[in-house]
Amino acid sequence: MRQANVLLDGDFAIGDTDPRLFGAFVEHLGRCVYGGIYEPGHATADEKGFRRDVLALVKELGPTIMRYPGGNFVSGYNWEDGVGPVNKRPTKLDLAWFSTEPNTFGTNEFMDWCRVADLEPMLAVNLGTRDGDAARNLVEYCNHPAGSYYADLRRSHGYKEPHQVKFWCLGNEMDGPWQMEHKTATEYGRVAAEAAKMMRWVDPSLVLAACGSTARNMPTFGRWDDEVIEHTFELIDFISLHTYLNNYKGDTPAFLASSDVMDFFIEEVVAIADAVAARRRSTKRLMLSFDEWNVWYRTRRTRSDRVKEGWPVAPPILEEVYTMEDALAFGGACISLLNHADRVKCACLAQLVNVIAPIMTETGGPAWRQTIFYPFAQMSKFGRGRVLRTRVECETYAASYYDPRGVIDQAFPIPAAPYLKLAAVAANDGSLNLFALNRDLRQPMTVTVDARGFGNLLVAQALELRDDDLKAVNSKSAPERIKPAPLKGVDSDKGKLRVRLAPASWNLIRWEATR
Ligand code: AHR
Repeated sequence: MRQANVLLDGDFAIGDTDPRLFGAFVEHLGRCVYGGIYEPGHATADEKGFRRDVLALVKELGPTIMRYPGGNFVSGYNWEDGVGPVNKRPTKLDLAWFSTEPNTFGTNEFMDWCRVADLEPMLAVNLGTRDGDAARNLVEYCNHPAGSYYADLRRSHGYKEPHQVKFWCLGNEMDGPWQMEHKTATEYGRVAAEAAKMMRWVDPSLVLAACGSTARNMPTFGRWDDEVIEHTFELIDFISLHTYLNNYKGDTPAFLASSDVMDFFIEEVVAIADAVAARRRSTKRLMLSFDEWNVWYRTRRTRSDRVKEGWPVAPPILEEVYTMEDALAFGGACISLLNHADRVKCACLAQLVNVIAPIMTETGGPAWRQTIFYPFAQMSKFGRGRVLRTRVECETYAASYYDPRGVIDQAFPIPAAPYLKLAAVAANDGSLNLFALNRDLRQPMTVTVDARGFGNLLVAQALELRDDDLKAVNSKSAPERIKPAPLKGVDSDKGKLRVRLAPASWNLIRWEATR
């Protein structure tokens, strides 16, 4: 039995979680839009063609903000193709995913869907094949009330009121050679700055995120971020970063340690952003938008994993089926985000439905929750509040984590991954919520928590997500094979808590303060 000791104090906080930390992502990719959120003719579809069964699961999942329309897709997207009468919209080839885009779903449909789903929209503009001109026109179309060409065009399309989109991404992964019109940091920095300037001239209230590095092992990581921030510093609020965890090597301990690479990545990007600020003697602090993160590898490695030949519409690609161990690695990523709540003020789980997603559907059939659904839903529901500093004492292990993304084909050393990975949130409702991952595959763990400044604590809820079979999955025929179950063996006595965690388990423990 392993032992871990945790010390925390209600007065010592990392920072408050921003609601935007619990975002997700809808891209025109595979069956995310068509057959995912939108399927006219489906038995549950509403009058606009939105699947109600998917909407119900989205509400249960609890995302707050939704990034759209890409992703790689946006770098070749003409937003004008997706507005106006549907029968006049062009069908186009999408060079990001080598499929055919019918454009029957576009910006206005997305806004309608966000309204029904009660989500804040986040739009990405195309800074690949297009530039600041198309971007500022889209801002005018979405946010200007009336009396200009694009605002009146929107009104003529049936949307009298502006959409009031606040959060905008200045392109997507522009450091990646796979991107349409991939750019150098100088080229991108300039176009992002000019686009940001004009977008803000149309609507000064915008919140803007520039593209940082696609991954920590991009060969340009560091230099890219530094130069892009130099160009855009005064014009942006956020710098983005992306990470997809993998278990290509079949090394589960390393996979479970791999979310620690996200911690390193975040801290490095913060250091770069603050170094740019220091060079300017500026007190401005850029925030981080982790606007793509997840586990993704089975449907990724080869072109045939990602592309179906013949330019199909909405092909079933990137339909990663998540295992129990994926949910554990994913839970580690949730903890990494929470523990950087001071600087990561926005994050988007990539993606929402079917495409590397917590929700799966069958076109014409049912929808169900994947294993990764649960850590996200719990984080979104119980992660609102003040993330506390924690001192975690427990044994560590060394891991070598392999990530082939980018050009540097190397393993990341993780010298000391604590077997217990944990985040503690003093929630807005007064409860103390612990998210705890036991990364030991064989041994259970006794965790004692000295929670200072809370008075008496009573256990309000304790759930674990685990399975003897780490490769177990949920599926259409067994949609609830993996789901949270009550966690037994949780005691508390005057602010001293004791809990026993099963090997290889994700746990949520909530205490109510009774003073
Ligand atoms: O989320 C899938 C893809 O991953 C996105 O389109 C792209 O931005 C990233 O490379």
